[in-house]
Amino acid sequence: MQTKVITIDDSSLHSQKSKLQEIAYFIKRGDLVACPTETVYGLCGNGLDSNSTKKIYEAKGRPSDNPLILHIANFEMLENVAKTVPHKAKKLIDAFWPGALTIILEKQDCVPYETTGGLETVAVRMPSNEIILEIIKLSGLPLAAPSANISGKPSPTKAEHVIEDLSSKIACIVDGGDCKFGVESTIIDCTKDIPVLLRPGSITISMIEKVIGKISVDKSITEKSPVNKPMAPGMKYKHYAPNAKITLVTSDNVKDIPSEIIKLVKKCESNKKIAIICTDETEGLYKDLDVLIFSLGTREDLNTITKKLFHGLRDMDKNNIDIAFCEGFSENEEGLAIMNRLVKASGYNVIKK
Ligand code: TXA
Ligand code: MG
Repeated sequence: MQTKVITIDDSSLHSQKSKLQEIAYFIKRGDLVACPTETVYGLCGNGLDSNSTKKIYEAKGRPSDNPLILHIANFEMLENVAKTVPHKAKKLIDAFWPGALTIILEKQDCVPYETTGGLETVAVRMPSNEIILEIIKLSGLPLAAPSANISGKPSPTKAEHVIEDLSSKIACIVDGGDCKFGVESTIIDCTKDIPVLLRPGSITISMIEKVIGKISVDKSITEKSPVNKPMAPGMKYKHYAPNAKITLVTSDNVKDIPSEIIKLVKKCESNKKIAIICTDETEGLYKDLDVLIFSLGTREDLNTITKKLFHGLRDMDKNNIDIAFCEGFSENEEGLAIMNRLVKASGYNVIKK
């Protein structure tokens, strides 16, 4: 299949209307479009059409029991896809939509089981990125959109990542620049009296608890080993993993991490290509080693880290790295989302100093 790449630049969306209409037309006729959101690039199709959602699973190579998130642009669409919106969900919507928060609700009959992976619940979010919002409005449809990567690989945060993974598999890729946050949305299940956090993201536990009080946290997030039956079905699959073998090195005191990584590098066989994924604060400490150094940004501003996280993991494959050592982060605030992705990228290969 020929994939059309359409660039939407920073000028007003109004002046790019004909391109946006062309993009929406792909969706309306049942084809797939990858486009940016504020979190990661999404692979979008008509979320109410089981043929479109089947195409999504196929293009990604994603198991069909791993449900999709519906992206909406207004509250009329919310009523169409969700049976009820509990009080706490309403408060979260007021506080965080449009934005990087996905809410699990009871599904309406019109939402096909192909979209929800056979579940009676549906994941919904109203993104804040203007490009996807406009595509939703012009198509008039809730868009099912998982991250636009091949299943198991790091999520895409730039159009070039989507082109690497999905070129010739989908009708259209929208190049709308880099994603603002770089990690996927926070997911919270609001079908329970005490809502449950299913995936940490840039909207943190403390931000949520300020709005609705105490929530619980699914054990797939708190445990550092694979969980057999996580509440977010997708969590049981391999995630975010480059081909390189990643070792994540953590410590209660982050200052102890670099010396441990240097020790581990020195133990590696000399014919292996090695990389260190680190931070601006520490990259100078590794300069005498024969390794590729990739800094994710500064620990002073975790958004710089989330923004470059998946690009850093993808860079391992670009450089044919065999073994990568990655510095860990404390699990406060956005650090929880960063560590959640890194633990999975490492396949739970975590060394605590
Ligand atoms: O930021 C994001 O959320 C991005 C952008 C494109 O919006 N999308 C994204 O989708 O990360 P995906 O498919 O990669 O991750 C969706 C997660 C999966 O782990 C899935 O299991 C969970 O949401 N999920 C979807 N529907 C669910 C449901 N009804 N109950 C529990 N978990 C659900
Ligand atoms: Mg994904």
